[in-house]
Amino acid sequence: MKVTIVGAGAVGASCAEYIAIKNFASEVVLIDIKEDYAEGKAMDLMQTASLLGFDTKITGSTNDYSKTANSDIAVITSGVPRKPGMTREELIGINADIVKSVSESLLEHSPNVTLIVVSNPMDTMTYLVHKTTKLPKNKIIGMGGALDSARFKYRISEALDCPSSDVDGMVIGGHSDTGMVPLTRLATRNSVPVSEFLSEDRINQISEDTKVGGATLTKMLGTSAWYAPGAAVSSLVQAIACDQKKMFPCSALLEGEYGLNDLCIGVPVILGKDGIEKIVEVELDEAEKAKLKESASGVSKTNDLLEVK
Ligand code: LAC
Repeated sequence: MKVTIVGAGAVGASCAEYIAIKNFASEVVLIDIKEDYAEGKAMDLMQTASLLGFDTKITGSTNDYSKTANSDIAVITSGVPRKPGMTREELIGINADIVKSVSESLLEHSPNVTLIVVSNPMDTMTYLVHKTTKLPKNKIIGMGGALDSARFKYRISEALDCPSSDVDGMVIGGHSDTGMVPLTRLATRNSVPVSEFLSEDRINQISEDTKVGGATLTKMLGTSAWYAPGAAVSSLVQAIACDQKKMFPCSALLEGEYGLNDLCIGVPVILGKDGIEKIVEVELDEAEKAKLKESASGVSKTNDLLEVK
């Protein structure tokens, strides 16, 4: 199992670190445009192998895509992260060209690769990769919902003062401050709806805090977060690499599912060796359907800014 991660910045390097620690991949290749940067991150990470007990071989390369040849999975984190006060959508102008050229370079050396898109605005970048690579739709996955759901579970566990492992919950919709749809109705603590423990106001607050989860951290850190994004990507990579048939909300190309068409947006999917093996259509109530529809119209508006349609 060979995994390429393009972009050796904080998100890419965290992702490599978690993949290595989980010890399921034989090889991780980090690629970056900055001279020696990916090589340095790979070397630093490899020096943790004897301490942390993993066998994954991590290598780095300055933009030499021949090193990525025959990758099974590639993660695209390249582009610029947002700065405090910026929306993810504002990054489109810079990141679209980068994501397009990175995906083309990856495909040249790994025609059967499964791509995971992380660069923002993520749903639109995932759609762009569909439009430009023409890979089968199961092989292009946008990472947003897994991260947003982890942030949602964190906020619920904080409110309940319980471990996150007690909590289940999912965020669908666009990976944006206004587009996320935390499914509070379906969130549980050990199968008990969270509404049994928390007031409506508190649940609404959790929902709002979840939606600005990334923005809150960007303000605190001065740049986009990396630990949770890296961990979320590593979970998707593991689900595909180990054919886990695990369900995650991911940005997937919709062709009629949830009444939506011709866009990529966060919905629950089953991830296994074939990438997105199934889109799961959960029965939503009227309010949830309306929120998802509004979110989709926001994503489509951002997609309209792309030159490739
Ligand atoms: C975030 C970035 C990865 O939400 O979009 O932290």
